[in-house]
Amino acid sequence: MKKLLLTFSCAVFNLTAYSAVPLTPEQQLGEALFKDKNLSFNHNQSCETCHSLNPIPSLKGVQGIVPGFVDPSNVKGISPISVGSIPRTTGTLNAPSIAYASYSPEFGWDEDEQIYVGGQFWNGRATNLIEQAKKPLLNPVEMAMLDELDVVNRIKSNPKYIKDFQKIYQLNISDTSSDKAIQDTYTALAKAISAFEQSGTFNKFNSKFDYYLAGTTQLSTTEKKGLDLFQGKAGCSGCHKMDVTVDSNGNTIPPLFTYFGYDNIGLPRNMAIPGNPFADLGLGGREGIPQTEIGKHKVRSLRNIDLTPPYGHNGIFNNLDDMVHFYNTRDVLKKVKDNNSPEFAKTAWAAPEISSNMNTTQIGNLGLSIVEEKAIVAFLKTLTDDYPLWGNNPVAVSTKDGRVPENSPPPIISTKNMPTLKIPVRIK
Ligand code: HEC
Ligand code: HEC
Repeated sequence: MKKLLLTFSCAVFNLTAYSAVPLTPEQQLGEALFKDKNLSFNHNQSCETCHSLNPIPSLKGVQGIVPGFVDPSNVKGISPISVGSIPRTTGTLNAPSIAYASYSPEFGWDEDEQIYVGGQFWNGRATNLIEQAKKPLLNPVEMAMLDELDVVNRIKSNPKYIKDFQKIYQLNISDTSSDKAIQDTYTALAKAISAFEQSGTFNKFNSKFDYYLAGTTQLSTTEKKGLDLFQGKAGCSGCHKMDVTVDSNGNTIPPLFTYFGYDNIGLPRNMAIPGNPFADLGLGGREGIPQTEIGKHKVRSLRNIDLTPPYGHNGIFNNLDDMVHFYNTRDVLKKVKDNNSPEFAKTAWAAPEISSNMNTTQIGNLGLSIVEEKAIVAFLKTLTDDYPLWGNNPVAVSTKDGRVPENSPPPIISTKNMPTLKIPVRIK
């Protein structure tokens, strides 16, 4: 584990984690590119289409107040997967939240733990955020641009970009005379987007739970019970890790609720995905990775999880209650054919889409009561950011427990305050 955390700390380069910090010129350029629909085949789609920066106003409660960085049509239950720039093209995976993605270390093999960790995407196939950002633009079921030159031609039609790339990267993006010039511009574009993804916009650390850790708010009795179960009987924190880390610059990194590893929790096939595609093979389906890793997907951060239904790589669960019920009873309830059965998620589950590597030691039969399941869900809802905003909103929350004043800065937790909580602190 020591080595893992070392890589982890190094990954946190130049991180301006707090939303109060203004964006750098490079991050501002990244934001403009992130929102630019002109960078898609039909001029109708940007990164933001599937990773929205805004709350979804039509939704009730906290979901209508705080952005979740996911595809609004997925959250609204219209479809588990997203539509591309070209009509009727769709992917096969649920668009994840990209908040806190910048904390994932580069993809690699951890010698000490003998496991793969890090990377971007459900199967980690992009080494880091820069390599990731190059992909959706050219993906035929996403932004569907033909090639790098096609993208560079679009950005060079914007005089502001010409100036910004020159100033920030000393690049003349109008020069498309050589493959090197095109690739340099394309990489700079991805770098700008990744800089924006490292900004406070995506990494706020101001959830109710963060204020609780800092000692400035209380959890309700149910939420506290959920936290205890999460770390105890239910064993969630075995994978959704809650360590507080301190990086080499002395910055405290609050719990991220993942160690960025991979596992197979045995999700059944989701019949709601158009075209009923083949099962996604996950980590083991990647080029260069042994087939023995089949069925494993990335352990996700659970920050903002209440805002990002549906859940799982194939978006099979529409709410947190079903997800927690699945962890609790996967190996206990009977099996029906598939998730179209009316009994599914009530009195039955369906077979795992991929049974190799399914984790049967930590999950599947947790022995939780329904009351305990609900407590875990209540705890998960404390992980939603912008607590000063939603915690004070009487429409979003009915209880008055533990509110913090509006416009409170993100709590910078002190590792000295930790001992009363069962949260390990690791110092690099
Ligand atoms: C059509 C919808 C769509 C668009 C447009 C889109 N994405 Fe995504 N994004 C997805 C889906 C679906 C996944 C998961 C795919 C996978 O894992 O293979 C994903 C995954 C990601 C991830 C990985 C997160 C993680 O934790 O593993 C990042 C980062 C990301 N997208 C950023 C971007 C950026 C930057 C852009 C614009 C250049 C973009 N996306 C455009 C749908 C989209
Ligand atoms: C053995 C490791 C492990 C344990 C223990 C575990 N999880 Fe997970 N969790 C994962 C993996 C891996 C995924 C992604 C699986 C996939 O999509 O195929 C995941 C996904 C999730 C998701 C959906 C994330 C998203 O963005 O769609 C939620 C919610 C979740 N877990 C909550 C919990 C809770 C609550 C517990 C305890 C009851 C728990 N997990 C225990 C490994 C684990």
